[in-house]
Amino acid sequence: MKNLSPQTHCVHTGTQFDEQTQGVNSPIYTSSAYGYLNGVRLYPRYYNLPNQKAVVEKLCALEYAEGGLLFASGMAAITTAILALVKKGEHIVFQNNLYGGTHYFVTSDLEKYGIEFTLVEGMNPEDYAKAIQANTKLIYVETPSNPLLKVIDLQAIAEISKANNLVSMIDNTFASPINQNPIKLGIDVVMHSATKYLGGHSDMCAGAIVSSAKIMEKVYHTAINFGGNMDSQACYLLERSMKTLALRVERQNQNAQKLVDFLGTQNEISQIYYPSSDPIAHKQMSGFGGMLSFELKTIDSQEFMKRLKLIFPALSLGGVESTICSPYNTSHLKISQAERDRLGIKNSLLRFSVGIEDANDLINDLRQAL
Ligand SMILES: Cc1ncc(COP(=O)(O)O)c(C=O)c1O
Repeated sequence: MKNLSPQTHCVHTGTQFDEQTQGVNSPIYTSSAYGYLNGVRLYPRYYNLPNQKAVVEKLCALEYAEGGLLFASGMAAITTAILALVKKGEHIVFQNNLYGGTHYFVTSDLEKYGIEFTLVEGMNPEDYAKAIQANTKLIYVETPSNPLLKVIDLQAIAEISKANNLVSMIDNTFASPINQNPIKLGIDVVMHSATKYLGGHSDMCAGAIVSSAKIMEKVYHTAINFGGNMDSQACYLLERSMKTLALRVERQNQNAQKLVDFLGTQNEISQIYYPSSDPIAHKQMSGFGGMLSFELKTIDSQEFMKRLKLIFPALSLGGVESTICSPYNTSHLKISQAERDRLGIKNSLLRFSVGIEDANDLINDLRQAL
């Protein structure tokens, strides 16, 4: 059926129907050796097993993409796509306010491949246009960004990319396809750390790239050589999780806004970061997500986390359970102190991944800790 809503795509799209049993779920294809005399060459590292296909079809429907690939982690997806699309002697324009792991890859590894880059401060699209050089091939952004939830105008970035014949790529992990569809806004490549909202239960590690068929062909060529594919068992887990993606994210959007409203009334909170306060977010997002950050005035952030009884201090994000962490000491630890200071990632900053619990229970936990 055509024109299905995201909620319906989450449940139905991509299911690999098993005629033999008529089961409602995709079977798990565990083999790594398949007969080939019929002309079909199935192999896990060729990214062509039915369990990969099931998730790719679902994600492509949600992200308005023509094709996609699934990887063993978000970082495998990011690094494979970048190294597939840019070669030695070429240049990439990156947002400076990035997930710490991506920032670390850019600053510590790209040089080894002879790839040049510029890290742009702030979220003004004009600054990205100014950073373009004759050898620039790619603009890479992350919005809302980790951990300060900064928002960049995706339509403006897409227009700048197209005008300069570049590929544009976004890490759409924080928003999820339920809240933001960059391809609809003109962006070429969408990446997800599926470890987060797509997986949604803090029990898997996965990554995805979706784009046009033409761009995916290029990414595929490098992907089979790098071999970072996701295996069938993990694909099945991801397919199962994505059936409830829309439900979970809608609840997380609502809970996060209630928590932002509560934190706004507390004297101890000096700053709250959440996209709903940004007009650009209203233009390009249909919901503002389950991620928020805040700064404490006087309570030590480590001490504050220890006081929490329900909200669990943990790395990662996007699960059904509420978790909290100090980006200064975790995701952004590998970034130098001076750079963290410049980016505004302070010791007093906490990043909160809001779960699907009852919002009042979460508010009560925050209240007692404050
Ligand atoms: C925004 C964002 N992008 C990418 C990644 C990397 O994903 P993974 O840990 O699945 O490799 C993370 C991980 O925290 C992230 O938060």
